[in-house]
Amino acid sequence: KVKAKATAEPKYKVKAKPKESKPPASFKVCVCGGCGGIGQPLAMLMAMDRNVGELCIYDLNISPMPPAGVAQDLVHLERKCTVKGYIGEVGQPPVKFMEEALTGCNLVLIPAGLPRKPGQTRDDLFKVNADIAKGIVEACAKYCPEAVLAMIVNPVNSIVPAMAELYKKKGLDPMKIIGVTTLDVVRANKFVGEETGKNPNFISVPVIGGHAGTTILPLFSQDKAGKLLPAEKVPDMDKHVQDAGTDVVNAKNGKGSATLSMAYAGARFGSAILSGLSGRKRTECAYCASTVTDIPYFAQKVVLGPKGIEKVLPLGELNEHETKRLAEVKEQLKGEVETGLKYAEANS
Ligand code: NAI
Repeated sequence: KVKAKATAEPKYKVKAKPKESKPPASFKVCVCGGCGGIGQPLAMLMAMDRNVGELCIYDLNISPMPPAGVAQDLVHLERKCTVKGYIGEVGQPPVKFMEEALTGCNLVLIPAGLPRKPGQTRDDLFKVNADIAKGIVEACAKYCPEAVLAMIVNPVNSIVPAMAELYKKKGLDPMKIIGVTTLDVVRANKFVGEETGKNPNFISVPVIGGHAGTTILPLFSQDKAGKLLPAEKVPDMDKHVQDAGTDVVNAKNGKGSATLSMAYAGARFGSAILSGLSGRKRTECAYCASTVTDIPYFAQKVVLGPKGIEKVLPLGELNEHETKRLAEVKEQLKGEVETGLKYAEANS
C-alpha cells in the first residue's frame, strides 16, 4: 500500500510582510540651559531619540560645565545625531552663538533658569526666571519662529502666559509656547501603580490645571487603574502628586529640585512633539493658551501634530472630588496667569 503523500502545507504561516514603517525624521533640537541639572540628562535622552538629527547644547559661561564639554561627551553615543555646544556670555546679547544654535530648530527645550531651594515656592523664582526666558524666547522669535518652545523653567504657570503673550505681540503663534507639565503625569502614574499594583507603564492619568501646588489636579477617575483607588484615598493621592516636587527639593537639602525625573519627563514630552511633527500624532497633557475653562492658560490633554499643538481636548467627565478641586485650581491659577500677563504688558 502506497502511503498518501502529505500535502505540502507549511508548518508555519508565512507572515505578511510588515508595512513599511516610516523612516525616522531628522529634526534639529536645542536645549537651552543644556549644562544644568535637568539640561544634561535631558540632552542625553534627546540625543537618543531616533527623530533627532542635530542636537545643540546652549548655556552660559557661568555654568559649571562648558556646553562644548557636554556636546563632546554626547557625541560618542552610538546614535546618528550630531551634537554641538554653544556658549553665551552673561550680560551680553548672545547673538552669534544663539543664531547658530537656533536657526532651523524644530524644537527648543528650555530648562534655563534657577531651581527652587527649600522654603521657596515656584513663584519666588518668577522675576529672575522670566527675564532669562524672555532673552531666549526673543532669540527664538528671531531665529526659529516656527519652532515649538517647550518651557520647563519655573514658575511655568506664570512664565508660559508671559512668553506666549510676547509671541502674540510679535505676530507669532502663541500656541508654539508650551509649558511642560509631564512630570506631574509621570508622578501620578507612578503613585497609582504603587497603590494598585498595576504597571505604571500602562497607566495614563491626565493631570490638568497648572504646575504648582493646588493648581496640579490629577484626574484619577479618567484612568482604568486610577479608578480603582478607594474614594477615601483619593485626597491623599491628589496631595501626594501636588507635593512631589517639594519632596524632592527637601530631600536634596538645598542642592536643587527634580532633575533626573524632570529630564525623563521632558524627554517624553520632547519625543512626543517630534513624533507629532513627523506626522505620527500623540496626545499628552501640556500647559498652554486654552479655552476649555474661563482661565486663559490651562493644562489639559492636547493632540500634538505636524505643527505642534493641533487640538486642545476638553476636560472630560469629572467626579465630585475633581469638580470641587477644579474650583480651587481656577482660584489659584487666575492670579498666577495674571502675573504672567502683567509681565508681558510691562516688558514688550
Ligand atoms: P540648574 O541651575 O541646575 O540649571 C539651569 C541651567 O540654566 C544652568 O546651567 C545655567 O547656567 C543655565 N542658564 C541660566 N541662565 C541662562 C540663560 N540666560 N541662557 C542659557 N542658559 C542659562 O537648574 P535645574 O535644576 O536644571 O532647573 C532648571 C529650571 O527647571 C528651574 O527653573 C526649575 O525650577 C525648573 N523645573 C521645572 C520642572 C517642571 O516640571 N516644569 C521640574 C523641575 C525643575
